[in-house]
Amino acid sequence: MEKKMIETERLILREMTEQDFDALFAVLGDPEVMQHYPNVFDETKVREWIHRNIERYEIFSFGLWAVVLKETGELIGDCGLTMQQIGGNIKPEIGYHIRKDMQRKGYGTEAAKAVIDWAFTNTPFQILYSYMKHTNAGSYRTAISAGMKLVEEFPDKVNGITKVYAITREEWIALKKESILCSVETQSQL
Ligand SMILES: CC(C)(COP(=O)(O)OP(=O)(O)OC[C@H]1O[C@@H](n2cnc3c(N)ncnc32)[C@H](O)[C@@H]1OP(=O)(O)O)[C@@H](O)C(=O)NCCC(=O)NCCS
Repeated sequence: MEKKMIETERLILREMTEQDFDALFAVLGDPEVMQHYPNVFDETKVREWIHRNIERYEIFSFGLWAVVLKETGELIGDCGLTMQQIGGNIKPEIGYHIRKDMQRKGYGTEAAKAVIDWAFTNTPFQILYSYMKHTNAGSYRTAISAGMKLVEEFPDKVNGITKVYAITREEWIALKKESILCSVETQSQL
């Protein structure tokens, strides 16, 4: 039985399984989706990706989760929390990949925001990061839309320049308060 972790308005985020291979290969094996990575994933890499995340669930209770459309049950990508080496230190990172035909519909932001909520609710981390190649506009704009701010840029061998975005627990609490206030104001205008 697949373990459901998060539910949003349009999405379910659940643990991935070996049965997700075809759907994940359609995302990670697509040269357009992977254009900012050193390599497109072949079948072996996608199988390793699934196994690494299953291992992460066991060790950390989090990892990259399958992003599934509630309406159809279709897997359209992954999003979640992993521990990544960023500029020499191991940091909690929000990552995401959405299938090409499903991009720019707000799913990346919806999933990333929900993972940030999950992480600040279920872990003691005080700050969460997202990092990417400086040219990966889809990725950094998703980080910004999810509430993150640019905190660092540094040269590195793989990315040329890496951009690092982050959100602190205090900033997240402030954003939550703001959105509660907004919804109260909207309701009082109805
Ligand atoms: C990053 C990614 C997950 C975003 O998913 P998405 O579902 O398209 O994201 P959203 O629809 O929520 O868009 C979020 C923001 O990014 C912008 N955006 C998305 N794709 C973009 C692109 N290719 N170029 C420029 N901006 C882009 C959107 O316009 C939106 O901006 P706004 O909030 O200011 O209006 C998706 O582009 C992807 O899978 N990229 C390839 C994999 C990857 O590189 N992952 C990150 C590894 S570091």
